[in-house]
Amino acid sequence: MIIKAQAHFFLKIHFFSCVLPVVFALQSNIIEAQPTPNYIESEVRDYHLPDLFLVPNQKKVLSNIYWESFAQAHQFELLEKFVYGRRLPATAVSVLGGEERCNTECDGVPAIRIQATLRLGPNPNSPTTNVLLFVPQAAKKVPVFLKLNFLGNQAEVTDKDIEITQNWIISKEGNNHATEATRGTQIRRFPVSSMLGRGYGLATAHCGDFFPDHKDGRATSILSSLGRPTGENIPDDEPGAIGTWAWGLSRILDWLITLPEVDPKRVIVLGHSRLGKAALWAGACDKRFAMVISNDSGCGGAALSRRNFGESIEVITKRFPHWFCPTFAFFANREDELPCDQHSLLAMTAPRPLYIASAAGDRWADPKGEFLAAVAATPAWNLYNFQGLESDRMPPVNLSIGQMIGYHLRDGGHDLLQFDWEQFANFADRNLKKETHSQPKKHRPEKSKNEDVLADFHPDQRILPTHPPENAVILLGKNIKPKFMSMDGEPIDWSEKDGVLTATQSKQHRNHIVSTELFHDADIHVEFMTSPIAHGNSGLYIHGHFELQIYDSFGVKNFTQQDEGSLYRFMKPLTNASRPTGEWQVYDIRFIAPNRNNSDGFRSPGTLKAWLNGQLVQDGVAFTEPRSPYIPYKHGVTPYLRKTEQTLHETGRGPLFLQDHGSPTKFRNIWIKRLPEEQSL
Ligand code: GCU
Repeated sequence: MIIKAQAHFFLKIHFFSCVLPVVFALQSNIIEAQPTPNYIESEVRDYHLPDLFLVPNQKKVLSNIYWESFAQAHQFELLEKFVYGRRLPATAVSVLGGEERCNTECDGVPAIRIQATLRLGPNPNSPTTNVLLFVPQAAKKVPVFLKLNFLGNQAEVTDKDIEITQNWIISKEGNNHATEATRGTQIRRFPVSSMLGRGYGLATAHCGDFFPDHKDGRATSILSSLGRPTGENIPDDEPGAIGTWAWGLSRILDWLITLPEVDPKRVIVLGHSRLGKAALWAGACDKRFAMVISNDSGCGGAALSRRNFGESIEVITKRFPHWFCPTFAFFANREDELPCDQHSLLAMTAPRPLYIASAAGDRWADPKGEFLAAVAATPAWNLYNFQGLESDRMPPVNLSIGQMIGYHLRDGGHDLLQFDWEQFANFADRNLKKETHSQPKKHRPEKSKNEDVLADFHPDQRILPTHPPENAVILLGKNIKPKFMSMDGEPIDWSEKDGVLTATQSKQHRNHIVSTELFHDADIHVEFMTSPIAHGNSGLYIHGHFELQIYDSFGVKNFTQQDEGSLYRFMKPLTNASRPTGEWQVYDIRFIAPNRNNSDGFRSPGTLKAWLNGQLVQDGVAFTEPRSPYIPYKHGVTPYLRKTEQTLHETGRGPLFLQDHGSPTKFRNIWIKRLPEEQSL
């Protein structure tokens, strides 16, 4: 359904992007009047945020593995299509004429100042950017804050040696050229001595090196050097200034991580206001940024678009049509139709630490909308057992809160000030500490209980037949009636003698047998012997979905995911442990079933560990849906199997199938030992 809705959007977007500009142009006098922003909280409309965990097939993912592979990737694509435009591909970065390093002192703090002109592309005439970096003297591998600046590097420090930018800058006077008068004017936004004193490096470059911040900036931006269209008619999902600035931050990162002074795993991307929007998008596009900070980024940054408070999509896309991709403007006054919102952008940082800062006097940026977006993104961190912002009550001014998502509301106006920096550094101290970093595991998904359960599983397969453990349920053994049914729910027609069952050969290969015992998580023990007929083909369909292959694979060197020991057509065995035809062999499998949730999809994937003839052949592979193209619920399905499948979906419990594949495989000594279901997630 979502897919249909999107197709519909596309038609509409396409129509609007072709026709509306003309209409707008004709009516420009009427439309020029700026809509009055809403600043009254009680007039904020009700809204419903898009679900971060839905994937296009309407299923919901609820584990971090599936979040990263499906939902986060899906949300990213929505942000690309509808807000920022497609992520730009990387290009070669080289240092023109080498780095310039000098020892200096910043307010008494000994520092190394490093300057480099980076060439952004493979050609001698590729564009360049000038990067200014300070690191504490004698520092090795320090964490670094990286931010773009508005007016050129010379405005960030008072240092007379810093070259004045030649590129376009925003200026009230209107000539848009930086002069000596700009030197040091932005120093409050680049507190070198205090951050160096705390053990951090500070890097910056001018945003105008990548995209001059005006409506016609595209023509002189770096985009043409990347072969992007810069004329009037650009594609609906073509990136604008924000996408280009984000790309620029990644190119600077390419260089930073080559420096001996910089810890490549602890570069923090930070930005104020429009450059805060770019920092968030850079963190979304480039997972190498270890932490992401947005300061007063507002509309199109951290603030929810659906909240009609302060700046709106209509206003921002009219005043700054060059910032986003053309499609974003279509959602002016139809924010509810936007398939994503800015909480999706914030969730792109998960599980890395994210900090959102607002200022109480900056109502234009909607501080509450920024805070609520971070609250709405928190479930993404929770998937990793990390806490974000767990309450939707805004904190009082000047109090920094949150764990892996930090937030504060500073008093005062729209700016990046010492107070903000101090909170960022405190947050980075907590979340990117050296010890934490040397053990990156802390930032990886928490070890699941399943991993422990699997780690303990090492059955003794030396002596066959094996004695079943006390609490095992015997499905096949001497002097007991086999606990198997036919696919019709009838008694089986496989031949049985002295506790040994032999698969009947059927042309259709549909004469599988089904255990009458159902289980959720279990250890499964099966002894079997292949026959020379039909390559000894058979298998164990656990729950009817996941097939441990039985096949005459003895001695096969280049074994595949169709050989014995494989999870058929999904995961080849770790080693070929197959024994020759005519010998008894043994599988011991610890199976942790996927947790299903009927309406919402899978809550957590299943996993298994398998030993074959004393060797580990599968070690913790995760799965959800059936991985074999031939599953009994699809081929030769009967009313009995339909019921079995329904039970599986309702309870998570299913049977063990022994497969008929035209070969008279023999089975004996089959048992299951149920595991406590709490062990599964
Ligand atoms: C304007 C714009 C904001 C932006 C800000 C800035 O106010 O409307 O969206 O964040 O400029 O970059 O300073």
